[in-house]
Amino acid sequence: MILQDLYSTIWRLFSSSPETAAQAALHDDHTAPVQNEVLRKARPQIVGPDSGPEAPFPIELSGAVQRGFGRGGKDLGCPTANLPDESLPPISSVARTGVYYGFAQVSARKDGSKLLPDEDAKVMPMVMSLGWNPFYKNERLTAEVHIMHDFKSDFYGHDLKVIVLGYIRPELDYVSREALIQDIQTDIKVALNSLARPAYEKFKSDPLFIRSP
Ligand SMILES: Cc1cc2nc3c(=O)[nH]c(=O)nc-3n(C[C@H](O)[C@H](O)[C@H](O)COP(=O)(O)O)c2cc1C
Repeated sequence: MILQDLYSTIWRLFSSSPETAAQAALHDDHTAPVQNEVLRKARPQIVGPDSGPEAPFPIELSGAVQRGFGRGGKDLGCPTANLPDESLPPISSVARTGVYYGFAQVSARKDGSKLLPDEDAKVMPMVMSLGWNPFYKNERLTAEVHIMHDFKSDFYGHDLKVIVLGYIRPELDYVSREALIQDIQTDIKVALNSLARPAYEKFKSDPLFIRSP
């Protein structure tokens, strides 16, 4: 917790204004602080209380996987599944933009028109970016989920269920693609460390995932 507090303080000092990230997200220009060495070095390796998710988490999201711009896999080595706009209010109405962690499950399309191998349909750890992607200057708020699993098939059009258990960091702008890639790799490690605790791991068997889609 002390490291997390230190990180938030440093982030506030380096951000261009003292307002919260939630307020900043409402701005028309969708700007974000630029990542720098001080912020990078201050990153904690585990986040959220050991006792388990605290309000407003857990937050459940679900919808059919949408195609993004396709840069996640190609440019960043980190494929993402975008959630549809109408699935976002449960998180966009209560939480700020930034990077989150939790569990996700892809389940086969209901009409049976596309198959999904069993190994791709398990509940897996995920990191999610909720925001405007300042590095790519997007015009729309998106929720992009990166699932820590090597998928055998593509999951576009299949159902995606997500349980968000905690917040990792605010959304940032980057001076280079490499710096963004480095931060995403750290996000993945932080998520895996944070989810390995029993009070978080138990959400893998949450009824959201057990119910048939
Ligand atoms: C864990 C994670 C963290 C991210 N953090 C940021 C960020 O801080 N700033 C940013 O501009 N984009 C961030 N992104 C978003 C990437 O820019 C985005 O995934 C990329 O633009 C691919 O989008 P596309 O598939 O729609 O092309 C993050 C993505 C992930 C998966």
